[in-house]
Amino acid sequence: MINKTTYHFLFLLSFISFSLQAQNIRMLIPSEIDKSTEAEMKEMGSLLNAKDIYSPDTLSINDAVIQFNGGCTGEIVSPQGLIFTNHHCGYGAIQAHSTFEHNYIKEGFWAKDQKDELPNPGMYVTFVRKITEVTDDVFKGVKENMDENIKKNIIRKNINKLKETLPRKEWQEIDIRPFYAGNKYYAFTIENYKDIRLVGAPPSSIGKFGADTDNWMWPRHTGDFSIFRIYADKNNRPAEYSPDNVPYKTQSYFKISLDGAQPGEFFLVYGFPGRTQEYLPSIAVEKKVEIINPARIEIREKTLEVMDRFMQKNDTVKLKYTAKYARIANYWKKWIGETQGIKKSNAIEKKKAFEKKFLEEAKAQDLDASYQNIFNVFDDLYAQVTDPELARNYFIETFYLNNDLLKRALQLYNLETIYERKGKNAYKEAAEKISKQIASSFSNYDPQVDKEIFKTLLKLYQEKMPEKYLNSELKNKDIDALADQIYENSLLNNPEKIQKLLKRNPKKFIKTIDDDSGYVFAKKIIDTYYKKIAPDYAQLREKINEVQKKYVTGIIQTAGKLPNPDANGTLRVTYGVIEGYEPRDAVYYFPVSHLKGVMEKYIPGDYEFDVPKKLIELYIKKDYEPYSTNGKMPVDFLGSAHTTGGNSGSPAINKEGELIGINFDRVWEGTMSDLFYDKKISRNIMVDIRYVLFIIDKFANAKRLINELHITK
Ligand code: ARG
Ligand code: GLU
Repeated sequence: MINKTTYHFLFLLSFISFSLQAQNIRMLIPSEIDKSTEAEMKEMGSLLNAKDIYSPDTLSINDAVIQFNGGCTGEIVSPQGLIFTNHHCGYGAIQAHSTFEHNYIKEGFWAKDQKDELPNPGMYVTFVRKITEVTDDVFKGVKENMDENIKKNIIRKNINKLKETLPRKEWQEIDIRPFYAGNKYYAFTIENYKDIRLVGAPPSSIGKFGADTDNWMWPRHTGDFSIFRIYADKNNRPAEYSPDNVPYKTQSYFKISLDGAQPGEFFLVYGFPGRTQEYLPSIAVEKKVEIINPARIEIREKTLEVMDRFMQKNDTVKLKYTAKYARIANYWKKWIGETQGIKKSNAIEKKKAFEKKFLEEAKAQDLDASYQNIFNVFDDLYAQVTDPELARNYFIETFYLNNDLLKRALQLYNLETIYERKGKNAYKEAAEKISKQIASSFSNYDPQVDKEIFKTLLKLYQEKMPEKYLNSELKNKDIDALADQIYENSLLNNPEKIQKLLKRNPKKFIKTIDDDSGYVFAKKIIDTYYKKIAPDYAQLREKINEVQKKYVTGIIQTAGKLPNPDANGTLRVTYGVIEGYEPRDAVYYFPVSHLKGVMEKYIPGDYEFDVPKKLIELYIKKDYEPYSTNGKMPVDFLGSAHTTGGNSGSPAINKEGELIGINFDRVWEGTMSDLFYDKKISRNIMVDIRYVLFIIDKFANAKRLINELHITK
């Protein structure tokens, strides 16, 4: 039905003869929801008006959706600033409050009273109060035929001026972001609240049930939620943490529906998707799935193999490496799914067909003649960028993400640079920060595991790094001997020495590291990155971005209207239908999972599939009321909303705007939606709000929270 309606619209409303994919509008900018979008939603069953979803001058749903700590989404669920988000979004905070005696990751946490809610230094949430298009102001003074650098300068100045001059209250900020590859700009009036306290979290055997094995997968049975609260000063304004702060008061919060959503029904997800790239040319997608993804997958696979080998043998290692393993495994698994999904959905052929039509259309509409050459330009630039991009990935994965010792080398390198460029005071400040980071890196560290990863990854570096970017030090080097030597002697592997070093004055610091064989070795490779790989990459990226901007201009012109905007970490609306999918021939996945499925997966004592005793008891007694449906306890559900990383924790709401779930993942087969959304197999995964309430109420017995919520039936 959606597809048909959409086709109809496109046909009637514009003179376009083609579109990237004919389907409903996705990742909408809330302020741009117009009558036709409102009508499309209503056609699908929604009762919401555009004004209910976003309204700058009165309270509306946008005031109940927050960006959670810069990377996730959350929603306000009570007049006293209570927030729901995902367990994996609150994970760091829950972990930080855990001790040996009180392991809140393992046991869960429920603040008995408001005074027991735990502050989290550095944590913040962001409200978006108003969205304004400012394209004309940003481009003021920019002429078509100007030099690109001059253009950029003018744009930068205009943005800075707008940040100063756009009207705002004294506690608000203005954030300006490019859209449509830089063809448009929007300003966001935001408020950052900085006193955010932990209120509740289920044990990870609920909040992270299925862990890595089930991650990105359906059927899923995870209760991926945690609860926080916003605190404000006595005027209800943002304030740094203070014991005098009080719960944030608001009229805009989600009511919670006990009716759930039935398969086939409309739902909407409101949140902060991070990044999609749907308008890349086919050549870019081809390079990604044939060259870049396989390289990244291989690096991570090898790292994970090493970690796993040691984690199996030793429980202490397992404890130390679980979170690290999960972080590395998350995108490793995603890239595999993405690569397969691109192939399965024929994305590259479809993009090529689109490009062919685009050229015809550009000619028919008499667009700038240079468009006829645009895909050759892309081909050429992507051919050039492949090596620096590969090199960059080998470097970042090895030095930044997978090996701790080399990451420390990189941190010291940066410190040295800070001293050279900014002097003594900046050095001191940075050294303190790095000292803390390094101390925490040693707390979850095993030198034997790290050394094995070092060997594995540097051998891979030796073998796979494009010749041009491979340091001579690494050519024909005996990596095993080198590793033994460095892990034995270098201060990079010595927590006390490195801390002592970081307390020294900068001159002594530099003298010491210049004598350290491990650092000296790493420094040469880091130099190559900063002096060759990164500049080559940046230069080509810049050119690609210019062509990409032009391409998107062409897409807009030929289509006669704006396509779906790519995600860029700003507030968006996406909607769809509660529905399952066919992952492969003859297999259909139903869109709702139940507590029964948790029990089917139960493996006593397992680190991924253990189930808390209390939950088993509730299951046996069928003590679900009033949260069940037809005697069954729903857990997770699927829908066809277009989401991505950053949408974690986003509210899923029904046709009336009531909360029915919390978004937390996507299905593996459909993760290529960041590059190519395919309505047939791209699905988002949400935890059913009734399961959340059931856990809060029956499992944790946290009645004070239940009483605070506005629950409807
Ligand atoms: N795949 C989800 C998201 O991208 C959940 C990740 C957290 N869970 C995990 N097992 N690593 O981020
Ligand atoms: N788990 C993701 C997040 O943390 C959401 C899943 C996705 O990428 O769609 O934002």
